[in-house]
Amino acid sequence: MSEIRHFLTLMDFSRDELQQLISRAIELKASRKKGEIHEPLKNMTLAMIFEKSSTRTRVSFEAGMNQLGGQGMFLSSRDTQLGRGEPIEDSARVISSMVDVVMIRTFGHDIVENFAKYSKVPVINALTDDFHPCQLLADMMTYVEHRGSIAGKTATYVGDGNNMCHSWMNAAKQFGFHLNIACPKNYEPDEKLTKSLSDHITIFHDIKDAVKNVDLITTDVWASMGQEDEQKIREKAFKSFMVNDAVMALADKDAIFMHCLPAHREEEVSASVIDGKQSVVWDEAENRLHAQKALLETLVVGFPK
Ligand code: CP
Ligand code: NVA
Repeated sequence: MSEIRHFLTLMDFSRDELQQLISRAIELKASRKKGEIHEPLKNMTLAMIFEKSSTRTRVSFEAGMNQLGGQGMFLSSRDTQLGRGEPIEDSARVISSMVDVVMIRTFGHDIVENFAKYSKVPVINALTDDFHPCQLLADMMTYVEHRGSIAGKTATYVGDGNNMCHSWMNAAKQFGFHLNIACPKNYEPDEKLTKSLSDHITIFHDIKDAVKNVDLITTDVWASMGQEDEQKIREKAFKSFMVNDAVMALADKDAIFMHCLPAHREEEVSASVIDGKQSVVWDEAENRLHAQKALLETLVVGFPK
């Protein structure tokens, strides 16, 4: 039997494998639009463990698994023994003995790492406090569809140095583009990751300096899940970091705007930008489905020959 592959960050796949995944996602999208049936995961089950809320991730994984011929099984920590303190190691051994692939959305990144260590089947990180790699698969696919290869381009991430920012940083290395990060002081991304990716990123504290002539601007909420208590403090800290028309005007005229969603209009992004012509957020959300179908197929049956 071949070694189990997990997808906990974008660094778990090589550059070539990531490119192959994006191409496969684009093929699967076209195939679905033609109404073709493709069921390589027939009779298989995806366990979907959620310790945080979700709309896109849940719907895309569950619908995607159905479209591939299998089933998604929703497991919330509220209704399983996970929420009552059963160790991750024990849960991983048990759950992975009954299903074919697992996805987890949780808090600490060490939780998915630990689960993967004890799992007999592939494990997918569906968002932790530190990374959200599935979102970046959809984001990279969306850029390719709208503008072609992102290699050699410059993107700007505006906002908190959070899980989305960290995954954009990994993407810069893996997909060969430069990432500007515009964030308030004290909200920078992880120091260790910043050091290790220093050739691929530049940090700015003034949004205007970070967006000049760039090819893409993306942002995320100011307070992530688990940081609800900090909403008010963060609104103050981030108030000059809204992506609005004036910010978009500084970017290249063909720049596109992305947001992983959910969005807060008139906080991190103005309604005019997210609902405007340069925004590709709805394609980006739909592409979660296609990109994750490619990911599930690859992890379970391998890369198509
Ligand atoms: N972008 C994203 O992961 O959305 P959900 O939180 O709705 O899954
Ligand atoms: N940074 C956000 C992303 C949501 C998809 C959060 O973790 O809540």
